[in-house]
Amino acid sequence: MEMLNMTDISKSFFGVTVLNHVNFSVEKGEVHALLGENGAGKSTLMNILAGVYTRDSGQIRFLGKPLESSSVAATERAGIAFVHQELNLFNDLTVYENIFLRKEITNKLGVLDKKAMIREAKELFDSLGVDMDPCEMVSNLETGKKQLLEIAKALHAKAELFILDEPTTALNNEEIAHLFQLVNRLKADGKSFVFISHKMTEIFALADRYTVLRNGEFIHSGAIADTTPQAVTRMMVGESFNDAESYQERDLDQPVLELEGLTGPGFHDVTLTVRKGEVVGFTGLVGAGISELFQAIFGEVPIQGGTLKINGEAVTGHSIHKAMQHKVSMVAANRKENSVVPDFSLLENNYISEHTLSGRIQHIFRKKELDKFQTLRKALNIKANSPDDSITSLSGGNQQKVILARWLNTQADILLMDNPTQGIDVGAKAEIYHLIHQLAREGKTILVNTLEIPEIQQVADRCVVFYHGSVQAQLARQEINEEAVMLQATNAINTAEVLQ
Ligand SMILES: Nc1ncnc2c1ncn2[C@@H]1O[C@H](COP(=O)(O)OP(=O)(O)OP(=O)(O)O)[C@@H](O)[C@H]1O
Ligand SMILES: [Mg+2]
Repeated sequence: MEMLNMTDISKSFFGVTVLNHVNFSVEKGEVHALLGENGAGKSTLMNILAGVYTRDSGQIRFLGKPLESSSVAATERAGIAFVHQELNLFNDLTVYENIFLRKEITNKLGVLDKKAMIREAKELFDSLGVDMDPCEMVSNLETGKKQLLEIAKALHAKAELFILDEPTTALNNEEIAHLFQLVNRLKADGKSFVFISHKMTEIFALADRYTVLRNGEFIHSGAIADTTPQAVTRMMVGESFNDAESYQERDLDQPVLELEGLTGPGFHDVTLTVRKGEVVGFTGLVGAGISELFQAIFGEVPIQGGTLKINGEAVTGHSIHKAMQHKVSMVAANRKENSVVPDFSLLENNYISEHTLSGRIQHIFRKKELDKFQTLRKALNIKANSPDDSITSLSGGNQQKVILARWLNTQADILLMDNPTQGIDVGAKAEIYHLIHQLAREGKTILVNTLEIPEIQQVADRCVVFYHGSVQAQLARQEINEEAVMLQATNAINTAEVLQ
């Protein structure tokens, strides 16, 4: 039975067509993957469905009735819940206040019934297996927890159709498995899901059917069981897809990063040497301490013990500014929280870091900045209209590319990249891997933190596996595989030895 039917949907922004007569339908009790490259129009189509944007043309039928209204409140009432790609919570409110926003429970006198809301929030978290205090301020939550709260909030809406737009970008594997169980449970009850993700493993594990969009056009719909990741990738990117291996063995130069017993908040006793021109992949379970280590190298969190040498020079009284003067740059994880300056244009978002470094001259030389941005825009294939557009008008993956461009623009020699391909589509991922290899051949040193082992297999000379804040193992390129890494990342290898 059909639950949702969107026909002939078109939408333009400022004269640019982003959806062109698109059809999309979802059956009752299915998970429907909505696929497409960065900027294909996935989030826009869902924003139209949820009443965030108004459509220029087309019809929507939901649960057998036309869905005319284009307000978020009305679509929520009709039974549609939306987990947005970018976090959409109020940091200055508590967890339960976020859940009950606009749906507050009040007593007979119209006074807020806090106790009831806290109790209900607790019950919700228990049913989801999420460990969260309803009275905690959202600003104190880690990003993964915020994403879980977004999901919990949507599930609380008791909707018939749930839109999950890249819901797992900040979740660990356990949390993802839990979310998938929950989705399957709700599916068995006849609920439906639109699932947007750039992770093929997730799509093939969870979805029943799929629809591919390309450049705002409907391309194809079908059953997941009848296709393969390669086939849908071809549909997404057209014939131009180039995933040729770009890794080349290189002679590595002198050490540029030397860590000796380095200790800080979240990591301890890290001893490592990284050479000029090397690409090192870091991985571990979420919370293993790699992000914190990167932050310490970048001068963002304090070093509490041990030594850090950059280009042979011991660093003392570290700060971000010092790190940048040492030609270190950092693409931080979770772009919305840590990187995107929403009120700035693409151009401003691009030059902000470089200008902070070299900014004794107050003046911005627009022509020079534009030239630099256009070069990076080409190299990274950023889909945008004008450099003066707000960064928030870009699709998620294109925003991520602007952040990468920002740090390439600083001309750093050492690049720390924390989950750099967050939200980047399969084709663009391959392009970014090529770029990393090209940078390495030019003598740049790159440290990549990722949960995706195939990513490390693609880019890295060596893999460093973290467990509970320190280095658990180091694997040479030819030893890197999913199983070997997971054994180390979960410490299962030592547990097994103890049990024998
Ligand atoms: N508010 C807006 N103003 C102007 N252009 C917009 C706006 N929202 C989206 N667009 C444009 O619409 C196009 C489609 O964007 P959309 O966010 O739907 O892509 P997506 O398929 O979700 O991509 P991603 O995988 O990167 O999230 C992009 O070119 C984007 O720049
Ligand atoms: Mg999107």
